[in-house]
Amino acid sequence: MDRFDIRGGTRLAGRMTVHGSKNAALPLLAAALLTDEPVVLRDIPDLADIKSMLALLPKLGCTVDHQRVTDNELPGGVVNLHTTDTSVSHAPYEIVRTMRASICVLGPMLARRGLARVSLPGGCSIGERPVDLHIRGLQALGADITLDGGDITARVPRVNGKPGRLRGARVFLGGPFGSTVLGTANVMSAATLAEGRTIIECAACEPEIVDLANMLTAMGARISGAGSPRITIDGVERLKGVDHTVIPDRIEAGTYMCAALITNGDITIDNCPADALMAHIDRLQHAGAHFTIDDKGDPMRASVRVQGAGSRGIQPIEVTTQPHPGFPTDLQAQLMATLTLADGNSVVTERIFTERFLHVAELSRMGAGLFRQGPTVVVSGVRRLVGAPVMASDLRASACLVLAGLAAEGTTQINRVYHLDRGYQRMEETLVTLGAVIERVNEKEPAAS
Ligand code: EPZ
Repeated sequence: MDRFDIRGGTRLAGRMTVHGSKNAALPLLAAALLTDEPVVLRDIPDLADIKSMLALLPKLGCTVDHQRVTDNELPGGVVNLHTTDTSVSHAPYEIVRTMRASICVLGPMLARRGLARVSLPGGCSIGERPVDLHIRGLQALGADITLDGGDITARVPRVNGKPGRLRGARVFLGGPFGSTVLGTANVMSAATLAEGRTIIECAACEPEIVDLANMLTAMGARISGAGSPRITIDGVERLKGVDHTVIPDRIEAGTYMCAALITNGDITIDNCPADALMAHIDRLQHAGAHFTIDDKGDPMRASVRVQGAGSRGIQPIEVTTQPHPGFPTDLQAQLMATLTLADGNSVVTERIFTERFLHVAELSRMGAGLFRQGPTVVVSGVRRLVGAPVMASDLRASACLVLAGLAAEGTTQINRVYHLDRGYQRMEETLVTLGAVIERVNEKEPAAS
């Protein structure tokens, strides 16, 4: 198992390029199950979660060819996919338990094959993560759904002994914490091949949903309203192949923005989806960061220079996580790390995954002043963090600890960085180019002195 050793206190400076988005890429890869023609996806990041999806798809009859090195200027690889065999439609527990996002094969398989069996994802370190809205949405389209042996089995009823089709319907996807991103992806994908019109109300507005809608549209789907809470899909009989480039990862970009502020650095972020990060940029500006945005005619692939707060120091702020376009839950931990060094008290409230606070105890071990009550943490800014051995517990909590380690005095040892590798492509290499003193250590090797 790898760990990071970070010697903190360096101001990060330089340029980096954002990779393709993990959370956009996962449903795009699953959408290859909707067609019998070849699909090409570009700028696919080299991450553990992507590998899990690329291991799952061949089990469902989709051939996968992943070329990691390409000659264009985007950092990610190219994945060629081709679904040639529709006889096996079971996503087994061995893979689903390693990655909850495996659930996004459910809608595409059901729509094209009339049958999908996907192991029900289990518990998760960021809190309870039900899939009731996915199920309700697909049931509204006419699927019969049963739960058996830990699997969700979804079927399109046969009509007069012949394979049937999903039927368009009005589907409401609002839950107690807002909409559902992967639930919207599942229902929207399934509805592309349904008979008639589907209207998804309270759809997720996240940029990853817009990217999926753009790809499905290029495949021949008829979708309008993606990016708004109402998406309309007019079903078609079949979808064709596509060549599509995934959007850049807004959470990776947002994490490096925090790195600039917490180290009082100066980082220029290329291929930056600034348009998808307005809430984060707004909060960081209030906390003292200075932004220079050159959108180069495409605000989803901008160059963004982020400079720290200088002698004024980081200012305390309030932030509440919300569905897009509000402040994203996936940046809550990283922003909290940044605010530990603010000049005063900040208030961080988590409204999407109300238990997503495993990083609080670890940051406290580094000297942060944190007081949690329910979904809210009061962050009393301290003058310094002190390096300590800490434990990464989930993907974004790990990124939060890396940020804290970069700013802390002394050495921070972050164990279990495999969580980080699920969502950040070789983060330590990027940080080194920005001047950080960070090393990946394999636990079996003796630690560097
Ligand atoms: C996506 O997960 C992301 N994952 C998550 O990113 C992200 O944190 C989350 O959206 C919220 O933005 C991927 O895209 C692969 P949800 P998803 O369904 O779609 C409740 C990361 O760090 N809910 O939008 O699974 C749920 O409990 C990851 O990269 C129901 O009640 O999340 C939560 O409170 C972690 N019933 C809220 O909705 C359901 O059926 C939003 O969850 C589904 C969800």
